[in-house]
Amino acid sequence: MSLQNFLSRLDQLQSDAESAFSGASNSESLEEARVVFLGAKNGQFKDVQKMLGGIEPTDKRAAGMRLNEVKNAINEAFNAAKEALEGGGGSQVDPTFDPSLPGTRPTLGHIHPITQTIDHLTEIMGRMGFEVAEGPEVEDPWHNFVALNIPEDHPARDPLDNFYLATAGVAGGDPLAATGEGEALLRSQTSTVQIRVMQSCQPPIRVISLGRVYRPDAPDATHFPMFHQMEGLLVDRHVTMANLKTVLRVFANNYLGDDVEIRFRPSFFPFTEPSVEVDFLWNGTWIEFGGAGMVDPNVFEAVGYDPEKVRGFAFGLGVERLCMRRHGITDIRDLYSGDLRFLQQF
Ligand code: FA5
Repeated sequence: MSLQNFLSRLDQLQSDAESAFSGASNSESLEEARVVFLGAKNGQFKDVQKMLGGIEPTDKRAAGMRLNEVKNAINEAFNAAKEALEGGGGSQVDPTFDPSLPGTRPTLGHIHPITQTIDHLTEIMGRMGFEVAEGPEVEDPWHNFVALNIPEDHPARDPLDNFYLATAGVAGGDPLAATGEGEALLRSQTSTVQIRVMQSCQPPIRVISLGRVYRPDAPDATHFPMFHQMEGLLVDRHVTMANLKTVLRVFANNYLGDDVEIRFRPSFFPFTEPSVEVDFLWNGTWIEFGGAGMVDPNVFEAVGYDPEKVRGFAFGLGVERLCMRRHGITDIRDLYSGDLRFLQQF
């Protein structure tokens, strides 16, 4: 076969294939056209390719190059036709679609009541000038106990009252690397953040810290092994119990209403002196919400402050108990049941 005839046979094949592909009105007829031109057994392209054997050796190179060009062109034409049909497929109307029917509402999540409470408490305390500070939930004994004036033999450090971790250190290396001391644990109180703030800032300080704490308490209506506390710390030169009492009263009035009464009962915490337990009178009952007091001089010394020059107060309130009082929730376990019928009420 002469080169001339071979090339014109190829041109004819290309133009036939291109018009067959572009003329296909649906994917079935396109597939039929593909078998006719590109079919592996009896496709027209295969037939022409076989003719390459009859070409003079000197013309073979030119013939082979053109054969490849035409092959690519036919493949491209097929792909373009396929894409056009598929793209157009979207316009084929689903016969079951009825635009007059009401739509399906997407299911929206909403903010958990405890997160809502945290936001609310942050807002109230923010109006009194308290900024938010944060600390890690995995702590070392120095921040959770030692700096808070809780000695080695204090019952609060008992393994039965804490979640000590079996790991050698704290992720990120920060707290234990700093002290090189003891087993890491899940913090049992947010008072750890008092220490971290005082270590990194100089007075005056006015911060709150809201976060999770962990204690191996058996769950009941008012206890859960994981709960949240709101820690407050104010350090300045002249700070008194009267300031503490005022801040907590203003807070309680804002969160629980004007008719709430506040009561301070003498108590003991190693990191405050004097220390008090804080109760709010609510619907005729005194409810304990947390502990408070004037920061103990030993704590100031632990963080490198001069106890002769600064004074401060601190408090730690149970966030769940506050949330429960405000919303009339009678069992703390409902907050963590994951039951949407309960959670969707808030
Ligand atoms: C403390 O944790 C002190 N760190 C508070 C403090 C801070 C005192 C600063 C002085 C200065 P206490 O162990 O009493 O104190 O806990 C405080 C509050 O956390 C409790 O009044 C209660 O509201 C809440 N709470 C304690 N245990 C649980 C629990 N298992 N489940 C839910 N709430 C709890």
